[in-house]
Amino acid sequence: MDAVDGQAPLPRGEEQVEVGAQDTGPVVVVGATGKTGRAVAAALVARRVPVRAAVRPGREPAAPVGTTPVAVALVAGVGLEAALEGARAAYHLAPNMHPDEVGMARWVADVAGATDLPRLVFHSVLHPEDVRMPHHRRKAEAEVVLREARGDLVTVLRPAAYHQNLVGPARAGMLSVPYSLDAPFTNVDLDDVAQVAADALLGAHPGATLDLAGPQVLTTRQMTEEAAAALGRPVSDRRVTVAQWLAGPGAGLDEQARHDLAAMFTAYDHGGSWVTPACSRGCSGGRRRPGWPACHGLDRARARARAARDVGRGPAGSRALRASS
Ligand SMILES: NC(=O)c1ccc[n+]([C@@H]2O[C@H](COP(=O)([O-])OP(=O)(O)OC[C@H]3O[C@@H](n4cnc5c(N)ncnc54)[C@H](OP(=O)(O)O)[C@@H]3O)[C@@H](O)[C@H]2O)c1
Repeated sequence: MDAVDGQAPLPRGEEQVEVGAQDTGPVVVVGATGKTGRAVAAALVARRVPVRAAVRPGREPAAPVGTTPVAVALVAGVGLEAALEGARAAYHLAPNMHPDEVGMARWVADVAGATDLPRLVFHSVLHPEDVRMPHHRRKAEAEVVLREARGDLVTVLRPAAYHQNLVGPARAGMLSVPYSLDAPFTNVDLDDVAQVAADALLGAHPGATLDLAGPQVLTTRQMTEEAAAALGRPVSDRRVTVAQWLAGPGAGLDEQARHDLAAMFTAYDHGGSWVTPACSRGCSGGRRRPGWPACHGLDRARARARAARDVGRGPAGSRALRASS
């Protein structure tokens, strides 16, 4: 595996954040073997930033190319101190639907404090305040834990669902979903999320909370049409019941994930998951939680404009589909 610790940063385009001369330490990416972690690590490696890939013990060989693996058992916080020591920033995410997301955030907050980590970016989710979805509530709580511990040293990203989630089914010719085909979504391209994440890890959007969403509100029916157009072959869609999903694709998951996902599908059925297009907003649309940082006028507007531009290019979904076909 190629390690890139110590390499000088490459010159980059004007869309990318400059790396300060003093910022030569590695960036830690938690969950680096997963879908999101790989995308974030790749965005950093492409900018010649040294990346420490925090992976489960024993998973070091699966670390992304160009990163240096470091074993971390997140639930117990084991290995976290060694991972964060000397780092310039860290990207924290919890495994999908993990019941101890808040406990993991506590470990990260504590160790970030103990190691004086200069910058932390937390991967949350669009509408974490939506109490209908238990895994969203855990993310809301994790945001509070990190914000209270690290204040403006934390940037929170709240991405919508990724277009990439639908690429496999679209390529197989069928989008089968356990909620209304007419529910609206502003899904986002994971590669765009990764670029905003890399910007934040290198110093952009300090203290901000940003929704990251695609530029169009699309129903599953419309995404099916987009997929068919992008792939150049027929793609169908079908609504199944949550019970059918539980007995089918969800059958192999553990009880808690089944429960959390069923709650998410029911919430999706009653209004989808979306934000106003082309408006990736700081401070969750201006709603401010007590004790959270205020929106800072011009800076916040710039952050919004930047995030909106980064996530808003190209027809939604088409680029993700084409990239993987
Ligand atoms: N998918 C979306 O559309 C979407 C949208 C917004 C936010 N999110 C959030 O993004 C986060 C990551 O999602 P993802 O799709 O990238 O997940 P993923 O591909 O399933 O990756 C999960 C990562 O967590 C690791 N992991 C799994 N169980 C673990 C455990 N018990 N202890 C420590 N590490 C463990 C995995 O390691 P191994 O490789 O070793 O299994 C992997 O690196 C989740 O919190 C999710 O809610 C997802």
